[in-house]
Amino acid sequence: MESMLPKVICLVCATYILVSSQPKWRRRSDSRSSTNVSHLVFGITSSSNRWRDKRDYIQAWWRPNVSRGFVFLDRPPTEHLPWPAMHPPYRVSDDNSRYKEYNRHRIPSAIRMARVIEETFKAERGGEARWFVMTDDDTVLFVDNLVGVLSKYDHNKYFYVGMNSECFVCNVVHSFGMAFGGGGYALSYPLAKAMAKNMDLCLKRYPFLYGSDLILQFCIADLGVPLTHEPGFHQIDFTGDISGLLSAHPHSPLVSLHHLDAVEPLFPSTNRAESLNLLMQAAAVDESRLLQQSICYLKKYNWTLSAAWGYSVELYETILPPSHLYRPRETFAQWMKGASPPYMFNARPVSAGPCDAPRQYFLAPGPGRVTAYRRTSPRGLPGCPGGRSADNVTVIRILSPSKRLDWQQDGGRRECCDVDEVDEDALQVKLRDCGARELLL
Ligand SMILES: *[C@@H]1O[C@H](CO)[C@@H](O)[C@H](O)[C@H]1NC(C)=O
Ligand SMILES: *[C@@H]1O[C@H](CO)[C@@H](O)[C@H](O)[C@H]1NC(C)=O
Ligand SMILES: *[C@@H]1O[C@H](CO)[C@@H](O)[C@H](O)[C@H]1NC(C)=O
Ligand SMILES: *[C@@H]1O[C@H](CO)[C@@H](O)[C@H](O)[C@H]1NC(C)=O
Repeated sequence: MESMLPKVICLVCATYILVSSQPKWRRRSDSRSSTNVSHLVFGITSSSNRWRDKRDYIQAWWRPNVSRGFVFLDRPPTEHLPWPAMHPPYRVSDDNSRYKEYNRHRIPSAIRMARVIEETFKAERGGEARWFVMTDDDTVLFVDNLVGVLSKYDHNKYFYVGMNSECFVCNVVHSFGMAFGGGGYALSYPLAKAMAKNMDLCLKRYPFLYGSDLILQFCIADLGVPLTHEPGFHQIDFTGDISGLLSAHPHSPLVSLHHLDAVEPLFPSTNRAESLNLLMQAAAVDESRLLQQSICYLKKYNWTLSAAWGYSVELYETILPPSHLYRPRETFAQWMKGASPPYMFNARPVSAGPCDAPRQYFLAPGPGRVTAYRRTSPRGLPGCPGGRSADNVTVIRILSPSKRLDWQQDGGRRECCDVDEVDEDALQVKLRDCGARELLL
C-alpha cells in the first residue's frame, strides 16, 4: 500500500504540470469551481425574416450582459436596427457557398445551422467557456436549471447533452441517439472544439441528412461520443393542449420548451405571450421546482391531488395511485398524426368519467413563494360516486420550502406533500421532504 503513494502524488504532479502549461486562454484556472451562467456560451440560430416573430421567446430567458453568445442571422438585419441591448448580439452567418455541392439536405439552411457551433466556438472559446449550448430561435431556456444539469458532467471531458423527441417515430426517422435541436443541446468544451475543427470534413462527408441536428449527431458519433439524455430538454413535438404533459413532468429539472407557436397557450384563457410570462414569473420564484409533480391525498374525502409546482393542480374525487398520475393525460395531439407508437412515454387517455377527469386549477398571477392555483371553470360533470364532491373548491395554494430542490443531493425522489382544508373554498398543499420509507398512499 505504502509504495502506491508516491505514484499517486506523481500523477497529480503530472496532471498539474500539463494543465498549467496550456496556453493562457485555455487555462481555465478554476476549472473545478462550480459551473455558473458565465461558463455557458449560447449559439442561437435564427434568420432576419423570422426574428420579429421569435425574439420574444429569446428575450424571455436571455440575460443582457450576463448571458454569452450570439443570434446567427442569414443576412444583415437592416429592418431591425438599431439592435436593442436586451437582445443577444447578432452575427451574420459566414458565406457557405463553398459547400454548395454538398448541400443536398432537406432543410435548405442545414449547413448554415450546423456551422453555428463552429462559429460560436471560434468567437467565444476564450475566457471561462465550459459549455456551448445550441438552440433554435423558438426555444425557451430555463438557464439556472440548465446550469444545474450541466454541472453534473465534467466539462473537460467529451459530453453531448440533450434529449430525443417525445414523438416515437420522429426518433425512428431521425435518430434515438440525436439531441433534437429545438429542445437545445450542450457540447462540452473539448467536444465543441473537436467539432469546430472537423466541421469542414463532416459537412463534406454527410451531404444528405435532414437537418443540422442530425448532421451534428453524425459528426459527434464520428468522435465516438454518445448522447447523454436529459429529460428536461423538450422538443415539444405535439400539437394542441400540452397541459397534460406539463402537469406530469418527468422528475427532472425543466431545461427547455420549444414549439410554443405550434401548441395552444400554456394556460387557459390567456394568449401565448401572457402564458409564457406567467410561467417565467414562477421560474423567477423557484426554477428548481418548476413543473415538479407531487402527489398527496385527503383521505377523509377520498381525494387525490397531483400538484405541478408553478403550473397546475389536479384534484380527483377518488383515490388513484401515483403510478397512474405520473402518466401524462393525453390532452395533446400527435405531431405525426396516426403514427404508432405515438409517444416515448405512457400517456393516459383523457376521460370524461367523473372519477377519471380531474378538476383542474392553474397558476394565478401573484408575487411570492405561496402560489395560488385557480379553477378556470367548473368541470360540468357529476361528482365521483364514493367520494365527496369538490365542487366548492375554487382555489388551491401551494406552500413550498424556501430551500431550492437540490438535485445533486436528493434529486432521486420527488417531494411529498400534505393537503388541508383551509377554507370552505380553498385547500392548501404543503410540500416537504418525504420521510424515510414513507409511502405516498
Ligand atoms: C462564475 O464563476 C466564475 C469563477 O469560475 C466567476 O469568475 C464568475 O464571476 C461567476 N459568474 C457568475 C455570474 O456568478
Ligand atoms: C450592458 O453593459 C453596458 C456596459 O457596462 C451598459 O452600457 C449597458 O447599458 C448594459 N446593458 C443592459 C441591457 O443592461
Ligand atoms: C371513501 O371510499 C371508501 C371505499 O370505497 C368508502 O367506504 C368511503 O365511504 C368513502 N368516503 C367518502 C367520504 O366518501
Ligand atoms: C358547498 O358550499 C355550500 C355553501 O357554502 C355548502 O352548503 C355545502 O355543504 C358545500 N358542499 C360541500 C360538499 O362542501
